[in-house]
Amino acid sequence: MKKNSPVSRSGRFARGPGTDVAQFTESISFDHRLWAHDITGSLAHAAMLRKIGVLAKTEAATISKGLKAIAREIETGKFKWKHELEDVHMNIEAALTRRVPAGAKLHTARSRNDQVALDLRLWLRDEIVILLGEIASLQRVLVSLGEKYSAVIIPGYTHLQRAQPVYFAHHLLAYVEMLERDCERLWDGWSRVNVCPLGSGAIAGSTLKLDRVLVAKLLGFVDAQGRPQLTQNSMDAVSDRDFAVEFCAAGALLAMHLSRLAEDVILWASAEFNFIKIADAYTTGSSLMPQKKNPDVAELTRGKTGRVYGNLMSLLTLLKGLPMTYNRDLQEDKERLFDTADTVRACVRLMSAMLLHTEVNKPACLAAASDPALLATDLADYLVQKGMSFRKAHHVVGAVVALAERAGKPLNALSLAELRSVDQTFGRDALATFDLKRAMARRNLTGAPGTKEVAKQLARWREQLS
Ligand code: ARG
Repeated sequence: MKKNSPVSRSGRFARGPGTDVAQFTESISFDHRLWAHDITGSLAHAAMLRKIGVLAKTEAATISKGLKAIAREIETGKFKWKHELEDVHMNIEAALTRRVPAGAKLHTARSRNDQVALDLRLWLRDEIVILLGEIASLQRVLVSLGEKYSAVIIPGYTHLQRAQPVYFAHHLLAYVEMLERDCERLWDGWSRVNVCPLGSGAIAGSTLKLDRVLVAKLLGFVDAQGRPQLTQNSMDAVSDRDFAVEFCAAGALLAMHLSRLAEDVILWASAEFNFIKIADAYTTGSSLMPQKKNPDVAELTRGKTGRVYGNLMSLLTLLKGLPMTYNRDLQEDKERLFDTADTVRACVRLMSAMLLHTEVNKPACLAAASDPALLATDLADYLVQKGMSFRKAHHVVGAVVALAERAGKPLNALSLAELRSVDQTFGRDALATFDLKRAMARRNLTGAPGTKEVAKQLARWREQLS
């Protein structure tokens, strides 16, 4: 930085840093994206400085006009970012002071330490709201897909072995539930992001009589009742980033859920399962094997989960050894935070789009779901209803399964006599257990994949998401 640069931090330095140091310490290459929030914060700060008499009326007006003009230039790509001005805060302030001499008063009782904490909070607040909207869209796509294929039944799996039949919609709604908890976590974190740190100065506030409440209100840092939310300790306010960690943690959980959904989609799209067909636009071919159609969107969603976890670990590690209060290390928070926000948003958006263009192969699902072994547990329940203990019923049906295996036939092809050769409790109605439709109609506990219950859950989600 030049000695008499309009935003030089003090007269203390005979010269600025060398190019290598400047390159090493700059953040403008990535924090420029905070520009809109930086300007919003400065406008509120200027309005407050005017109210407490630090800025004259005309000074406040020219500063605000100048900041808005800079905003327009940045928006239209005309603004020249200067790397030698280190970061977004100094770039904007320098540009302002060049045009408006009163700009030199804008930084009164403000430090980049509380300014950057403010910008990050303002930025993240918006980001969370946008992400919540994207997640709701994905939930709606899952519900629509479930409704469109509401009669489709597939095997449910444990250990990736066929377990019991479930409605395809039930499987999808499991993800709607997970995503709902992700939304709750993000909203919960939002309330801790939504606290105004401005007025904390570099570390110890200011001797000037700032109106922190006014700034908080101007910037929308209020709770549901409209009460202003202010940080209560200046040292905490400039140095903690737990709100960013929380977001990255909620993002990591979200990414994990998306990754599991992606994994299911990948399996279902394989020739082995063949349950779904993803539209060509969301797949890619192989450069070598002409027949290939690869589920890259789902694979990358699964793959990107790694970096989202990594961002969380980076932030936690970044913070753990910092002595109070602000340390330059904190500049390293941004890229990790931005990357989590960008990555999970893109994954949610692309998974939505892909699922919107996915079709279900009904015959293949029906064939898989018609495996009578999926209803072996129902056969044990049948015996329980006849008065047998479940432990014994489990054993008896195990013997029936072994018998069918030896006979080389599916369970439902056994005769009543064969069933009775294992246990006399089996009656004429035993074989009706293997009627899939009937079996699905019987699973109507809350949360179970029964016909009525799944319809009820679909309707509930449809209503909740509308
Ligand atoms: N670019 C810095 C950051 O991101 C802004 C705050 C700099 N403060 C300071 N005292 N050097 O953290």
